[in-house]
Amino acid sequence: MTTTAIYPGTFDPITIGHVDIVARASKIFDRVIVAIAINPNKAPTFSLNERVDLATQSLQGIENIKVCGFEGLLVDVAKQQQADVIIRGLRAVSDFEHEFQLASMNRKMEPDVETLFLTPAEQYSYISSSLVREIASLGGDVSEFVAPCVVQALKSKLV
Ligand code: COA
Repeated sequence: MTTTAIYPGTFDPITIGHVDIVARASKIFDRVIVAIAINPNKAPTFSLNERVDLATQSLQGIENIKVCGFEGLLVDVAKQQQADVIIRGLRAVSDFEHEFQLASMNRKMEPDVETLFLTPAEQYSYISSSLVREIASLGGDVSEFVAPCVVQALKSKLV
Protein backbone atom coordinates (compact mmCIF):
# COMPACT_ATOMS: atom_id res chain seq x y z
CA MET A 1 0.00 0.00 0.00
CA THR A 2 1.35 3.44 -0.96
CA THR A 3 0.80 6.24 1.54
CA THR A 4 0.30 9.74 0.18
CA ALA A 5 0.27 13.01 2.10
CA ILE A 6 -0.76 16.41 0.81
CA TYR A 7 0.86 19.53 2.29
CA PRO A 8 -1.24 22.58 1.38
CA GLY A 9 -0.49 26.25 1.84
CA THR A 10 -0.16 29.58 0.12
CA PHE A 11 3.66 29.44 0.10
CA ASP A 12 4.04 33.14 -0.72
CA PRO A 13 6.94 32.41 -0.81
CA ILE A 14 8.12 29.00 0.41
CA THR A 15 10.54 29.32 3.36
CA ILE A 16 13.08 26.93 4.87
CA GLY A 17 10.50 26.27 7.59
CA HIS A 18 8.18 24.85 4.93
CA VAL A 19 11.09 22.90 3.39
CA ASP A 20 11.83 21.41 6.83
CA ILE A 21 8.22 20.17 7.14
CA VAL A 22 8.29 18.66 3.61
CA ALA A 23 11.59 16.90 4.35
CA ARG A 24 10.12 15.41 7.55
CA ALA A 25 6.92 14.33 5.78
CA SER A 26 8.90 12.76 2.91
CA LYS A 27 10.52 10.36 5.40
CA ILE A 28 7.15 9.22 6.73
CA PHE A 29 5.10 8.95 3.51
CA ASP A 30 5.80 7.27 0.17
CA ARG A 31 4.61 10.36 -1.70
CA VAL A 32 4.20 13.98 -0.59
CA ILE A 33 2.23 16.44 -2.70
CA VAL A 34 2.98 20.08 -1.99
CA ALA A 35 -0.28 21.76 -3.00
CA ILE A 36 -0.10 25.51 -3.52
CA ALA A 37 -3.42 27.29 -3.15
CA ILE A 38 -4.25 30.09 -5.57
CA ASN A 39 -5.74 31.81 -2.46
CA PRO A 40 -7.00 35.15 -3.88
CA ASN A 41 -8.13 36.15 -0.33
CA LYS A 42 -4.49 36.63 0.64
CA ALA A 43 -3.69 38.64 -2.54
CA PRO A 44 -0.35 36.84 -2.91
CA THR A 45 2.76 38.78 -3.94
CA PHE A 46 3.89 35.96 -6.24
CA SER A 47 1.66 34.48 -8.94
CA LEU A 48 0.65 30.84 -8.64
CA ASN A 49 3.17 29.86 -11.34
CA GLU A 50 5.94 31.75 -9.56
CA ARG A 51 5.10 30.09 -6.22
CA VAL A 52 5.06 26.63 -7.84
CA ASP A 53 8.37 27.38 -9.52
CA LEU A 54 10.05 28.66 -6.33
CA ALA A 55 8.77 25.69 -4.32
CA THR A 56 9.99 23.23 -6.97
CA GLN A 57 13.47 24.79 -6.92
CA SER A 58 13.59 25.06 -3.10
CA LEU A 59 12.62 21.39 -2.71
CA GLN A 60 15.15 20.02 -5.18
CA GLY A 61 16.86 16.95 -3.73
CA ILE A 62 13.81 15.61 -1.91
CA GLU A 63 12.89 12.62 -4.07
CA ASN A 64 9.34 11.53 -3.37
CA ILE A 65 7.54 14.84 -3.77
CA LYS A 66 5.44 16.61 -6.35
CA VAL A 67 4.54 20.32 -6.39
CA CYS A 68 1.25 21.48 -7.89
CA GLY A 69 -1.05 24.49 -7.81
CA PHE A 70 -4.72 24.18 -6.97
CA GLU A 71 -7.97 26.09 -7.00
CA GLY A 72 -11.08 25.07 -5.06
CA LEU A 73 -11.48 22.94 -1.98
CA LEU A 74 -8.46 21.24 -0.47
CA VAL A 75 -10.45 18.11 0.35
CA ASP A 76 -11.40 17.73 -3.33
CA VAL A 77 -7.74 17.91 -4.39
CA ALA A 78 -6.80 15.48 -1.60
CA LYS A 79 -9.38 13.01 -2.95
CA GLN A 80 -8.29 13.50 -6.59
CA GLN A 81 -4.69 12.87 -5.60
CA GLN A 82 -5.69 9.87 -3.47
CA ALA A 83 -4.07 11.42 -0.39
CA ASP A 84 -4.70 9.70 2.95
CA VAL A 85 -3.40 12.54 5.06
CA ILE A 86 -3.27 16.35 5.07
CA ILE A 87 -0.06 17.68 6.63
CA ARG A 88 0.00 21.04 8.38
CA GLY A 89 2.90 22.63 10.22
CA LEU A 90 2.43 23.87 13.79
CA ARG A 91 5.03 26.46 14.72
CA ALA A 92 3.61 27.72 18.00
CA VAL A 93 0.52 27.51 20.19
CA SER A 94 -0.83 30.56 18.35
CA ASP A 95 -1.15 28.45 15.15
CA PHE A 96 -3.29 25.89 16.94
CA GLU A 97 -6.73 27.51 17.03
CA HIS A 98 -6.83 28.26 13.29
CA GLU A 99 -5.40 24.85 12.43
CA PHE A 100 -7.89 23.08 14.68
CA GLN A 101 -10.73 24.86 12.89
CA LEU A 102 -9.39 23.99 9.42
CA ALA A 103 -8.79 20.35 10.38
CA SER A 104 -12.25 19.98 11.90
CA MET A 105 -13.96 21.56 8.90
CA ASN A 106 -11.97 19.42 6.46
CA ARG A 107 -12.86 16.29 8.46
CA LYS A 108 -16.53 17.26 8.42
CA MET A 109 -16.40 17.58 4.62
CA GLU A 110 -14.22 14.52 4.04
CA PRO A 111 -14.14 12.13 7.03
CA ASP A 112 -11.69 9.72 5.32
CA VAL A 113 -8.82 12.21 5.12
CA GLU A 114 -6.94 12.77 8.40
CA THR A 115 -4.98 15.92 9.25
CA LEU A 116 -1.56 15.35 10.77
CA PHE A 117 0.49 18.11 12.39
CA LEU A 118 4.27 18.27 12.19
CA THR A 119 6.46 20.78 14.00
CA PRO A 120 9.46 22.35 12.28
CA ALA A 121 12.92 22.42 13.86
CA GLU A 122 12.80 25.04 16.63
CA GLN A 123 15.12 27.47 14.83
CA TYR A 124 12.42 27.80 12.14
CA SER A 125 9.49 28.27 14.50
CA TYR A 126 9.36 32.06 14.14
CA ILE A 127 9.61 32.25 10.33
CA SER A 128 6.58 33.30 8.30
CA SER A 129 6.19 34.22 4.65
CA SER A 130 4.76 37.65 5.42
CA LEU A 131 7.68 38.57 7.71
CA VAL A 132 10.12 37.41 5.03
CA ARG A 133 8.34 39.59 2.45
CA GLU A 134 8.35 42.59 4.78
CA ILE A 135 12.06 42.27 5.63
CA ALA A 136 12.97 41.81 1.94
CA SER A 137 10.87 44.80 0.86
CA LEU A 138 12.76 46.97 3.38
CA GLY A 139 16.11 45.83 2.05
CA GLY A 140 16.88 43.33 4.85
CA ASP A 141 18.75 40.07 4.41
CA VAL A 142 16.43 37.04 4.23
CA SER A 143 19.01 34.51 3.04
CA GLU A 144 18.79 32.63 6.37
CA PHE A 145 15.06 32.06 5.93
CA VAL A 146 14.58 31.14 2.26
CA ALA A 147 16.45 29.33 -0.52
CA PRO A 148 18.76 31.41 -2.79
CA CYS A 149 16.23 31.32 -5.68
CA VAL A 150 13.65 32.93 -3.37
CA VAL A 151 16.13 35.61 -2.25
CA GLN A 152 16.61 36.54 -5.91
CA ALA A 153 12.88 36.45 -6.67
CA LEU A 154 12.13 38.71 -3.69
CA LYS A 155 14.79 41.17 -4.83
CA SER A 156 13.35 41.39 -8.33
CA LYS A 157 9.77 41.64 -7.08
CA LEU A 158 10.00 43.88 -4.03
CA VAL A 159 13.15 45.99 -3.88
N1 COA B 1 7.54 27.53 8.14
C1 COA B 1 7.35 28.82 7.85
N2 COA B 1 6.16 29.40 7.78
C2 COA B 1 5.09 28.64 7.99
C3 COA B 1 5.18 27.28 8.29
C4 COA B 1 6.49 26.72 8.36
N3 COA B 1 6.70 25.44 8.65
N4 COA B 1 3.95 26.78 8.46
C5 COA B 1 3.10 27.81 8.26
N5 COA B 1 3.79 28.93 7.98
C6 COA B 1 3.26 30.28 7.79
C7 COA B 1 3.07 30.65 6.37
O1 COA B 1 4.24 31.19 5.84
C8 COA B 1 1.96 31.66 6.49
O2 COA B 1 2.53 32.89 6.86
P1 COA B 1 1.87 34.27 6.46
O3 COA B 1 0.47 34.26 6.98
O4 COA B 1 2.77 35.20 7.14
O5 COA B 1 1.92 34.36 4.98
C9 COA B 1 1.13 31.15 7.65
O6 COA B 1 1.98 30.31 8.37
C10 COA B 1 -0.05 30.31 7.27
O7 COA B 1 -0.07 30.16 5.91
P2 COA B 1 -0.25 28.84 5.09
O8 COA B 1 0.45 27.68 5.68
O9 COA B 1 0.00 29.18 3.67
O10 COA B 1 -1.69 28.54 5.33
P3 COA B 1 -2.81 29.42 4.89
O11 COA B 1 -3.57 29.58 6.17
O12 COA B 1 -2.44 30.63 4.12
O13 COA B 1 -3.48 28.44 3.84
C11 COA B 1 -4.87 26.69 3.13
C12 COA B 1 -4.35 27.55 4.26
C13 COA B 1 -4.34 27.00 1.76
C14 COA B 1 -4.49 25.28 3.50
C15 COA B 1 -6.40 26.88 3.18
O14 COA B 1 -6.69 28.23 2.92
C16 COA B 1 -7.10 26.00 2.18
O15 COA B 1 -7.27 24.83 2.42
N6 COA B 1 -7.55 26.61 1.04
C17 COA B 1 -8.27 25.90 0.01
C18 COA B 1 -9.76 26.23 0.07
C19 COA B 1 -10.44 25.39 1.11
O16 COA B 1 -10.45 24.17 1.08
N7 COA B 1 -11.08 26.10 2.06
C20 COA B 1 -11.79 25.48 3.15
C21 COA B 1 -10.88 25.22 4.30
S1 COA B 1 -11.74 24.41 5.62
